Amino acid sequence: MIKIEKIVLSYSGGLDTSIILKWLQETYRCEVVTFTADLGQGEELEPARAKAEMAGVKDIRIVDLREEFVSDFVFPMLRANALYEGQYLLGSSIARPLIAKHLVDMAREVGADAVAHGATGKGNDQLRFELAVNALDPSIKVIAPWRQWNIRSRMQLLEYAEKHRIPVPSDKRGEAPFSIDANLLHTSTEGKGLENPAEIAPDHVYQRTVDPVDAPDAPEIITIGFERGDPVSVNGKAMTPAALLTELNGLGGRHGVGRLDLVENRFIGMKSRGIYETPGGTILLTSHRGIESITLDRAAAHLKDEIMPRYAELIYNGFWFAPEREMLQALIDHSQAFVNGEVTLRLYKGSASVISRASSCSLYSADLVTFEESAIAFDHHDAEGFIRLNGLRLRSWAARNRR
Ligand code: ARG
Repeated sequence: MIKIEKIVLSYSGGLDTSIILKWLQETYRCEVVTFTADLGQGEELEPARAKAEMAGVKDIRIVDLREEFVSDFVFPMLRANALYEGQYLLGSSIARPLIAKHLVDMAREVGADAVAHGATGKGNDQLRFELAVNALDPSIKVIAPWRQWNIRSRMQLLEYAEKHRIPVPSDKRGEAPFSIDANLLHTSTEGKGLENPAEIAPDHVYQRTVDPVDAPDAPEIITIGFERGDPVSVNGKAMTPAALLTELNGLGGRHGVGRLDLVENRFIGMKSRGIYETPGGTILLTSHRGIESITLDRAAAHLKDEIMPRYAELIYNGFWFAPEREMLQALIDHSQAFVNGEVTLRLYKGSASVISRASSCSLYSADLVTFEESAIAFDHHDAEGFIRLNGLRLRSWAARNRR
């Protein structure tokens, strides 16, 4: 066992990280500082303080990171219209580098030589935490108890808790719980019955969206304002990034928007099935594409779409703090200079659909596209030559095939 002087632990106050806290204190016999971040997971954070105090922690840090999370991580990602494997809005993936950054900052501040996290050896999150720490400060060691200790199952974890008098909530006894990760962008649920992808997810896994079947019969119309590719207002009211996403989560959740039942490919190698709820994020993705549709040049938009899967995969795999992600981000951010305007959407029984869009920077020309008589000079004969030349190689190809 290597000698560690002081550890900063990413601490949720939940059962797993409470056990990890005890295990770190016992194993390394050094001071452990707890770091608890408010990412809008919708949970009281004061109980985490009480639990850390009970475990003898002297330095307890609880920090509200909601605005930084949305403005510096979620919004830059949304500018790219990022989706992993065509569907996943990356709600857990994008939160990890932010937590890692704060763990590193705090380690420097309190003079710790190591940080610790509660991610398991089978998941993506360990990569996201640790690759970020590598990129931000290679001198800081990372401790991942789930890969080091002898605890191999949920049952053994509960035994350890009882032995060390760590209170186990009654609903955590007996049946194993779902693994849930929540923040302002999404709620992700994995494990238990969901591990069989052939089985339909039970209703009670959904936490922040109603079943579209039970959503209001009347549609709701909302308008989102954009400036330089970022959403800045809802229904004409300017809002901070975190307030705006919170507002859209409420609206989307009520209309059953943003549910996803997905089997995805983890970076570590296995397939996994999860349920995601991303109400506000789904509305933002749809509306951002709506405003881009009138403000981006065709080639610029298509280039963005080509690099998007690559960019999304970088975030999924844990390379937020990597040179290639920053290079792609510079390209994406550059493209957003004129992405200003307003998009109106209809929320209705699980769907969020764009119904109108307007911008002072629009490239759209009704005069140019109209079926009616138009003032703009467009010579229809030009199209004839355009088609003849584009068809030139096709005519050669077809003639050869017929020989
Ligand atoms: N599979 C998702 C990802 O890798 C979610 C991971 C965390 N979620 C959880 N329920 N433990 O981004």
